[in-house]
Amino acid sequence: MTYLEWKPEFSVGVPAVDFEHQELIALINQLHESLQAGESPDRLQQFVGELNARISAHFALEEKLMREARYDQYAEHKQDHEALLDEIADIGDAVGDDSEARSDELAGQLDEWFSVHFRTHDARLHQKLG
Ligand SMILES: [Fe+2]
Ligand SMILES: [Fe+2]
Repeated sequence: MTYLEWKPEFSVGVPAVDFEHQELIALINQLHESLQAGESPDRLQQFVGELNARISAHFALEEKLMREARYDQYAEHKQDHEALLDEIADIGDAVGDDSEARSDELAGQLDEWFSVHFRTHDARLHQKLG
């Protein structure tokens, strides 16, 4: 499994946001490691719950900034956040069902989601607000 790595192209030019994004990448990598280590479904579900809380908090902050700035692509950006939260919920269900292959596959999709979201939605948002 190739883990998601921070790349300079992910930078949105706002140090606090870049820092939070790096933290989220570290959590996703921990999820991959926990899946590979074959942690119990209970532990994995707990971890997915924590991951969900951290990501939700990050999204809530971005959405608040967008509303305050009357950002023109608020709806599209929020929709992409919601799609990711749905994926994380699916991972939580898959580890609860103990379907290992499925949770690995879903976790792989998170990497893709993050690299695309950082480079597109987040980069545009923070350029507009910055
Ligand atoms: Fe975002
Ligand atoms: Fe973000």
